[in-house]
Amino acid sequence: MQTNAPSTASAISAPVKIAVVGAGNVGASFAYALLLSGIASEIVIIDANRAKAEGEAMDLAHSAPFAPPVRVRVGDYSDCAGAVVTVVTAGANQKPGETRLQLLEKNAGIFQQIIPAVVEANPTGVLLIATNPVDVLTALSLQLSGLPTSRVMGSGTILDTARFRHFIGSHVGVAPQNVDAYIIGEHGDSEVAVWSQVQIGGVPLDDFCAAAGIVMTQEHKDEIFRRTHRAAYDIIERKGATYYAIGAGLVDVVAAIVRDENRVLPVASVTDGVAGISGIAFGMPTIVNRDGASRVLPLPLSESEQEALFRSADVLRTSLSHVQQA
Ligand SMILES: NC(=O)c1ccc[n+]([C@@H]2O[C@H](COP(=O)([O-])OP(=O)(O)OC[C@H]3O[C@@H](n4cnc5c(N)ncnc54)[C@H](O)[C@@H]3O)[C@@H](O)[C@H]2O)c1
Repeated sequence: MQTNAPSTASAISAPVKIAVVGAGNVGASFAYALLLSGIASEIVIIDANRAKAEGEAMDLAHSAPFAPPVRVRVGDYSDCAGAVVTVVTAGANQKPGETRLQLLEKNAGIFQQIIPAVVEANPTGVLLIATNPVDVLTALSLQLSGLPTSRVMGSGTILDTARFRHFIGSHVGVAPQNVDAYIIGEHGDSEVAVWSQVQIGGVPLDDFCAAAGIVMTQEHKDEIFRRTHRAAYDIIERKGATYYAIGAGLVDVVAAIVRDENRVLPVASVTDGVAGISGIAFGMPTIVNRDGASRVLPLPLSESEQEALFRSADVLRTSLSHVQQA
């Protein structure tokens, strides 16, 4: 799950508190992956459903003998004080018949309670948002928090990108770690696959396939993107929710912050002219370090990719203006 987990010794020597708001599927999966990673010395679990948070904290704490040293406990918002990162996974899930906009309004209302409470206790940490619709809630969290832009980020397209790399890697027979590829834009229906920049171990995809005798037609690419794009629906249809991959991905982002790694990850932060887009948050390859979302990379895009990104930005801008007016 973690490619380069730290030694137990480093976890002991530098106390690292991480707070998790929302002890549902995603919050609990993230906390479990975090616990096993050894990155945190203290994990605080917060949820409106106190009993659920207590149950998860107890179950997680009992994993401690099998994991690097870590203290897991239930808390309330004041316990976010001193957390290097507060990860927000709390919120309502889409109910049958409910539109995405209705869900957005509901979760925006929840965030109006959560974000000021977290920031009052912890004005110096990084906020990492995973609740959907994640891009709009990231932009809203920046407004509600009053924190610097770099310290409010969303999980962006880390999950979509992981799925994209997985499917490309399976097709070409290379480990997904060596597939350099990005999904950018909205974490959702308007996301954009940046095929023009896909590389396998540093070799452009089409050159790699030609040299290796691998057939990769436009139909294959369309099918890989379709599966990437449909993955959440395909999983939810079978098991009701998706949580392990996002849990592991959130640990990757937290590790990059805690260890000041300068990792390039497709998180979301509110942009100022990135790819010609300002004032909204969306997934773009970004240097992540102790400051949070430190710098967005100028990923070269083809004309059609740039147009698709503008369309994705329009979708996000419309949703954001909806909650800003609400
Ligand atoms: N960013 C991504 O890539 C990604 C991937 C998967 C899921 N998600 C999203 O993550 C979110 C959580 O999903 P889940 O499956 O864990 O849902 P869940 O229903 O299992 O958990 C949500 C938790 O939030 C808590 N909660 C609700 N209102 C709260 C409040 N005001 N304060 C504190 N806690 C509150 C609930 O009690 C519940 O425990 C959803 O919005 C989901 O769409 C995001």
